Amino acid sequence: MSGIARRVVISNGLLVLLAGAAFAVMLFSVADLRRSERLVLRSQEVLATANEMERLVVDLETAQRGFVITGQALFLEPWYAARPLLPAQARTLERLVEDKPAQQSRARRITAQTESYVSDYAEPLLATARRDPASARTLAVTEEGKRRVDALRAEFDDLTATERTLSLGRETQSDTIARRAAVAAATGLGASVLLILAFAVYLTRVIVRPVLRTTAMAERVAGGDLSVRVPESGVAEIRTLERGFNTMAGSLGHARAQLADSRARIVTSSDETRRRIERDLHDGIQQRLVSLALNLRAIQANLPAEPAETGTQLDRLADGMEGALDELREISRGIHPAILSEGGLGPALKVLARRSAIPVEVDPMVESRLAPQAEVAAYYVVAEALTNATKHARASVVHVTVQPRDARLHLSVRDDGCGGADPARGTGLTGLTDRIQALGGTITIHSPKGQGTTLRVELPMVPSVNRPPGLP
Ligand SMILES: Nc1ncnc2c1ncn2[C@@H]1O[C@H](COP(=O)(O)OP(=O)(O)OP(=O)(O)O)[C@@H](O)[C@H]1O
Ligand SMILES: [Mg+2]
Repeated sequence: MSGIARRVVISNGLLVLLAGAAFAVMLFSVADLRRSERLVLRSQEVLATANEMERLVVDLETAQRGFVITGQALFLEPWYAARPLLPAQARTLERLVEDKPAQQSRARRITAQTESYVSDYAEPLLATARRDPASARTLAVTEEGKRRVDALRAEFDDLTATERTLSLGRETQSDTIARRAAVAAATGLGASVLLILAFAVYLTRVIVRPVLRTTAMAERVAGGDLSVRVPESGVAEIRTLERGFNTMAGSLGHARAQLADSRARIVTSSDETRRRIERDLHDGIQQRLVSLALNLRAIQANLPAEPAETGTQLDRLADGMEGALDELREISRGIHPAILSEGGLGPALKVLARRSAIPVEVDPMVESRLAPQAEVAAYYVVAEALTNATKHARASVVHVTVQPRDARLHLSVRDDGCGGADPARGTGLTGLTDRIQALGGTITIHSPKGQGTTLRVELPMVPSVNRPPGLP
């Protein structure tokens, strides 16, 4: 199991154990309480039954005493009412105490003594009283009754006192159990809350915070800042995540630096190639064509009047050669404009504007010279935008602004044409994007259909000083 998953399982396990133990104690306590309560109720029943039975015995004794003394049958009414109830009460009492041997033997003694009192004393006495009231009233006989009832009452007292002591003990036990349940509940709850809090703090510190930090860094990376790194201070998978993130950001940064270097090299080498071709054309073929044309003119000038046709042909040849020369100059100027190398961006843009087939308003606010790469890039952006405006936009005017601000060159070319420019349909706009990005700049193309096209470019601007004139 992985590190973080193991930690989560362990802390959850602890929580379950703790809560489980607290609940177990509470469940046992509730069961104990219910048992204890049942026993207390049983004791109350025992006390009630014993009291009731004692009352019946006292009723018997009082009733028969009244009858023996007065001889009036009316006194016997309570006797007849109590007599049939006694066996049932005795059985109930014995059943209620059957789980306590000492109490049970007391209950049995009470039953036996009650039965003996009724059958061996009370009933024979009543029979005697009916037959011979005088002999029934003798002291020995009444003393016997009192002795028996006193003995029975002593047994009842014994039984009820023991039952009260038992009941009191159970009530004390119930209090202890209830306290134990309350302590278990409070401890379980408190410890669970503490554990949950500790776990939440731990998770926040170990997982949530590092993930949030890494997320924030990932957003910065997504925004282009590849220099960000997260501290590798997490545990287990979080540390792996942080390390992986840093490695990824490092690799991305490295790859981007390599890409920028190689793009810059490509742009530089293509610019150099253009300059070399332009020089080769200018210094080589162009010069030779110039001297050939001059030679032709000289030959033509030295020719005799006849044959006139040869002169005409040579004339045409010289014209053709001068035409080719003009075309060659035009081409070599497009390959790498000499005015850019000599005069800088401002004058070069003005020449571009003059040559454009549609009116161009230029607002170049650059006086000083910039780094050659920046000048060339800005020049080609304007050249491509003007060509596109002429070729695709059906525009009536193009506005060009160039403004150095905050160490960057801000360039915009806006036409009022049909819009809908799409770099995927050609190579010009894509080539510009490559060139600008290779220099660490940005380019945006805004071209909604029917609302013209605006190209915005920002370039790092490094003013170049002390540059010998004529050198790019
Ligand atoms: N100013 C513009 N107004 C309207 N549509 C334009 C404009 N600029 C470019 N487009 C559209 O976007 C497409 C892409 O332009 P892009 O300059 O990349 O290629 P291109 O001009 O067609 O060919 P090239 O590779 O010679 O430049 C064009 O084909 C054209 O349809
Ligand atoms: Mg184009």
